[in-house]
Amino acid sequence: MELLRTPGAMQGWADARRREGRRIGFAPTMGCLHAGHVSLYGLLRERGCDAVAASIFVNPTQFGPGEDFEKYPRDEERDLAMLGEAGVDAVYLPGVADMYPEGSRTFVEVDGVSRGLCGEIRPGHFRGVATVVAKLFNAARPHVAAFGEKDFQQLAVIRAMARDLDFGIEILGAPIVRESDGLAMSSRNKYLEGPDRVAALCLSRGLFRAERLFRAGERDPLALADAVRSEIRGEPRASLEYAEARDPETLIPVTSPTGRVTLLVAARVGPARLIDNITLQEGGAQ
Ligand code: PAF
Repeated sequence: MELLRTPGAMQGWADARRREGRRIGFAPTMGCLHAGHVSLYGLLRERGCDAVAASIFVNPTQFGPGEDFEKYPRDEERDLAMLGEAGVDAVYLPGVADMYPEGSRTFVEVDGVSRGLCGEIRPGHFRGVATVVAKLFNAARPHVAAFGEKDFQQLAVIRAMARDLDFGIEILGAPIVRESDGLAMSSRNKYLEGPDRVAALCLSRGLFRAERLFRAGERDPLALADAVRSEIRGEPRASLEYAEARDPETLIPVTSPTGRVTLLVAARVGPARLIDNITLQEGGAQ
């Protein structure tokens, strides 16, 4: 597994693979890897990528003031061991000064899907995500890139950016990977201890409750979102940020009965800010 630390080194690796006619798959991360990340590299192989790259970069521009940039969990050695085991061919590990040299002043702003939900609660977050992902794409020059569906709005933002800026990269969404008790895997689960870990289950419990209602015939998106909300409100250690019903493609709020809807939830539980979602559609949940 090759370790590359500058944009030039990463581009050199990608250009050499492209010259050999290889299909490059790429999944960027902020490290602190879990099975959800590992699934992305398997998906890229399944989709025919024969040169697979990862990146580990805790991106300062997507954290707001007072957020967890400084304490975001970092463990490069363990991450590299996991990526090696996952069969990744190259890992891009730039430093902050490599990504944002003195005088950097260009940002990518994706209108529409960046608004509302996490975009409202974390102003500037998706501008930081879109900017860093554009830069990572320009370094890794992939044919295909994979992102987890847990960050559903992020995935929509990246899809829009890749399309609008003609990146020519196929964007794949990978299903949420859950712990055996239902908690969506996230690097931020590291912040959850004891009773907070138990309380964190209110997010998935709320979504699964809405899923049961949907299966029993409930099609009112507001009633489905209410089911999620009331589960979170019933958990004293949790504080609800939002629980909303949105169109899975456009993320526009849906208010009238529908056979296909994504429920998105965000809540604080102890020191952690957690997000989760589920897409419900006639014929089964996705
Ligand atoms: O989902 C993440 O881990 C990050 O937001 C990403 C896409 C790697 C950009 O920093």
